[in-house]
Amino acid sequence: MSAVLKPSASQSVLSIDNIETFYGETQALFGVSLSIAPGEVVALLGPNGAGKTTTLRSILGLTPPRRGRIHFDGQDITRRPTHEIAAMGVGWVPDDRRIFPTLTVARNLAIARKKTRFRSWNEKECFEIFSALEYLMQRECENLSGGEMQMVAISRALLGSPGLVLFDEPSQGLAPKVVQDVMSTVLRLKREGVSVLLVEQNVACALGVADRVIVMRHGKVVHEGPAEPLRQDPDLQRRLLGI
Ligand SMILES: Nc1ncnc2c1ncn2[C@@H]1O[C@H](COP(=O)(O)OP(=O)(O)O)[C@@H](O)[C@H]1O
Ligand SMILES: [Mg+2]
Repeated sequence: MSAVLKPSASQSVLSIDNIETFYGETQALFGVSLSIAPGEVVALLGPNGAGKTTTLRSILGLTPPRRGRIHFDGQDITRRPTHEIAAMGVGWVPDDRRIFPTLTVARNLAIARKKTRFRSWNEKECFEIFSALEYLMQRECENLSGGEMQMVAISRALLGSPGLVLFDEPSQGLAPKVVQDVMSTVLRLKREGVSVLLVEQNVACALGVADRVIVMRHGKVVHEGPAEPLRQDPDLQRRLLGI
């Protein structure tokens, strides 16, 4: 079993330091801190309402934290506009997939393309990952199935040349074959040195690909550690995850 060390601030691609995030006057995050090393896959787990999506929204500047700091790739991104954070190389696969319904797949992918200082991806590589995608290019996105939309949403994140991809419950509502493709993509990103923060309800999927696990409850981090000991230990999973 290899030890997975928590990255120090200088080795991290992302570091979140003690953030407090609110919706109006309602506080959703209470002093959340976490960090992710280059090429590391971190699973963010926890029950509904724990603050997982809010953590992603805080990183992306969609719901900026009121207190605390967030650094990406050595730069302070706290309260920077979302488009600047994306342009620096933070990719996002939102839970509602959020693609433009009246545009074709080709157009959705074309407008996602960005250059960053990280590895660039092209459409051909997306077709290698999702073999069905090539044949969907001229379809309007509103006519796609959930699985097809997820392929577009993930490809869009890749074409943005990310150094970090935030996945929000990517396996939700998908057929097992597509879930498998999604998890293979996570591992492919890792091999290419891209970091992943993976929010999942499907604990088995998340543990299958994660290096490290962070568990949230009631807006706080309640556990952090390597994924390995959890993989083969249902009792430990029950204790830490309440499943
Ligand atoms: N738009 C919103 N307005 C007000 N409260 C919200 C909003 N979105 C989420 N919350 C609240 O913030 C808390 C964390 O939610 P969320 O981050 O969506 O949890 P998770 O993704 O872990 O299910 C919950 O108590 C939820 O009700
Ligand atoms: Mg959520």
